[in-house]
Amino acid sequence: MKHVKIKGSVAPLAGVLSGASRERLGKSGIGEMISLIERYEAISFGAGEPSPDLFPREEIAEAIANALGDADVWGYYHDDYGDEGLRDWIASRMKADGIAPEWVDAGNILLTNGGGEAMSLVTAAFVDPGSVVLVESPTYTESLLAFRAAGAFCLPVPSDGSGIIPEKLAGIVSSVPARFLYTIPNYQNPSGRTMPRERRVEVLEILCKAGIGLVEDDPYHYLGYDGDPPESFLALADDDVRVIHCSSFSKTIAPGLRVGWAVIPPYLSDIFGALRVSSGLGRPLAIQRGILRYLESIDFGDRISFLRTEYRKRRDEMALMCGSYLSPLGIRTNLPDGGFFVWGEVSPSYMNNFSSSRFARWAVEEERVGIIPGTAFYPSGGGENAFRMSYAKIRAGDIGDGVKRLARAFEKYRNLSE
Ligand SMILES: Cc1ncc(COP(=O)(O)O)c(C=O)c1O
Repeated sequence: MKHVKIKGSVAPLAGVLSGASRERLGKSGIGEMISLIERYEAISFGAGEPSPDLFPREEIAEAIANALGDADVWGYYHDDYGDEGLRDWIASRMKADGIAPEWVDAGNILLTNGGGEAMSLVTAAFVDPGSVVLVESPTYTESLLAFRAAGAFCLPVPSDGSGIIPEKLAGIVSSVPARFLYTIPNYQNPSGRTMPRERRVEVLEILCKAGIGLVEDDPYHYLGYDGDPPESFLALADDDVRVIHCSSFSKTIAPGLRVGWAVIPPYLSDIFGALRVSSGLGRPLAIQRGILRYLESIDFGDRISFLRTEYRKRRDEMALMCGSYLSPLGIRTNLPDGGFFVWGEVSPSYMNNFSSSRFARWAVEEERVGIIPGTAFYPSGGGENAFRMSYAKIRAGDIGDGVKRLARAFEKYRNLSE
């Protein structure tokens, strides 16, 4: 049939968008900023993505070509949980690295379309319209959007430089019946902070008392610059199976391959299998098998050391430049121990009424440098004086130039506002 355009007609499906679609419309400040940054061809601290020059392209291409030689990857409808060999590799590695307790094996690993899909499945499993989900503040925007699209009310738990404040959490859970707590304990997106072990223990104890589960989102786990992060919630909880742990190969191999996973406790195994079937009948086996072949052909420890060294160089450059150019202007930045993100905060004594969303646009338009305003990471207000800078994807040589541009943009913005 030809494409028929009838004068005056309105695309019929535009009028019947679901609540979930409407919730998403215009809500991701991040997408908007990234488009603006691209339009201006600005130096970008925007996208929280890994650096393409660190992708093992040739090795992965060879491994996937090799996997395509297996007859079974061409058939329909594989195991709901994905390639068993890769699941086994993940379970063994997580146990060897102390991330997972002894009960975790291949049967508990559900392969997903990146860590993002793990969060969609968690949402489908536990969120009804009106459910309360507890989140750190700030937190990862895409997860907020996933929870909200299902009708959740995301309740921020006050947090500081070490993550969730246990006393505040205790107060909230004693009065609010929440479905679960969502946390990114390591090298958090967007703040770069890591929750110390003692805090994790306290948080877990509070949740145990209140009978609430925890969703641990940990895609940056292996990117600690000075070694491993504190024990995971999954390992700390051990036999108390209230934790669902989600992770991904997006940061350690490449995000475009879209392979992540969730660790599903046995009592939830069937329900997650059923949710997987209803959300697309599985994910490409050839890619999963290719990743397995690649992992079997390398020393994963060496790969991790290589990435840590590369990202640490960028972090160091970033810290040096922020110290030299931003702190004299009253912009405080932290020093992350791993991951991709630096969090900037404008001290009110240097500038009142700072608006991170206005400033972020201004910085792109005036000085062609991109950041993400802090407001994008708060579920219900906050972040007006803050912004996120990702140094992972930016070329090392551009970091200095980018920070200098940001400092110039801030000075102009402040002069104009005074
Ligand atoms: C905290 C967090 N969770 C999940 C994801 C999703 O990663 P992916 O779906 O590529 O595995 C990201 C990506 O930036 C992230 O920062």
